[in-house]
Amino acid sequence: MQRILLDTDPGVDDAQAILMATAHAGSQVEAIFTVGGNVGIEHTTRNALTIVEAIGQDIPVFAGCESALVFEGEDAAWVHGNDGLGDANLVPQSRQVETEFAPTALLRMVTAEPDAFTLVAIGPLTNIALALRMDPTLPSKIKRFVVMGGAVTARGNTSNVAAEFNIFADPEAAHVVFEAWGKAGKLIELVDWEATVRYGIPFEKVAEWRALGTKRSTFFDTVSNRSFDRPSLTEGRTKMFAADPLALAVVIEPDCVTHAEDRFVMVETGGTYSRGQTVVDWDSRLKQEPNARIILKVKAERFFQLFEDGLK
Ligand code: RIB
Ligand code: CA
Repeated sequence: MQRILLDTDPGVDDAQAILMATAHAGSQVEAIFTVGGNVGIEHTTRNALTIVEAIGQDIPVFAGCESALVFEGEDAAWVHGNDGLGDANLVPQSRQVETEFAPTALLRMVTAEPDAFTLVAIGPLTNIALALRMDPTLPSKIKRFVVMGGAVTARGNTSNVAAEFNIFADPEAAHVVFEAWGKAGKLIELVDWEATVRYGIPFEKVAEWRALGTKRSTFFDTVSNRSFDRPSLTEGRTKMFAADPLALAVVIEPDCVTHAEDRFVMVETGGTYSRGQTVVDWDSRLKQEPNARIILKVKAERFFQLFEDGLK
């Protein structure tokens, strides 16, 4: 059984990813850590509680950092709705957030059971960076670390065209994280925005899933439907881009990856147009040990099946 600790900023695609992970027979989500990102921490935390309640699993939710380490980033309410879950105005009926701060809870769990957990980050890396500053040995305590973030050839999705949202939301945090994993001689399994676009899900398939009629698919439809009717997200597109679900497919079924390359990745924190860029040393010119395993190819049909399995 793969034991997952999930750091997230729900977020419509975060919700979709949580549905996938919690339906997978070989995986167990043992804690959710929320971070500000797509929307503010109050909403991402409330949304995490709502999602956990909707799936009926007893997963503790710990609230983490409200804002980036140094500079406030832009949010993504234009994608996810002002409440972060499609403006469906869902609220948890009874579940309460834990009192322990997320970075503290993360360190407590991985220190008590080193090399037991897969850490997954599908939002800005602020909580992970803070945990690293509290305990620099964090990488040695983590079995696998999978990150949804970056744009490995600078085709991002933010106002800084080279930057992807999770990295651009807190570049300083991302720098701390990539640097620490490199110094520890460990690899971040990196699922970037460009892979997300390559493995977009055909709208026809999404329409089938919305109509499955199960409790989970109805929740998926409710929180996602605002995304489906937004011209800014659909015009000229034939596919739904599902960044966090792609990352969770890599987490719950590593065999779905058919090609990955280990490279040294740096995060740009300066630059008018490049702040938040994940700069990849593709030709190993710096002679630095790799700190990232860049996921380049996956079995698309397997990814789609894992997504669908999360809705049944
Ligand atoms: O760039 C995509 C990422 O930004 C996803 O994690 C999405 O939820 C947003 O946080
Ligand atoms: Ca996210």
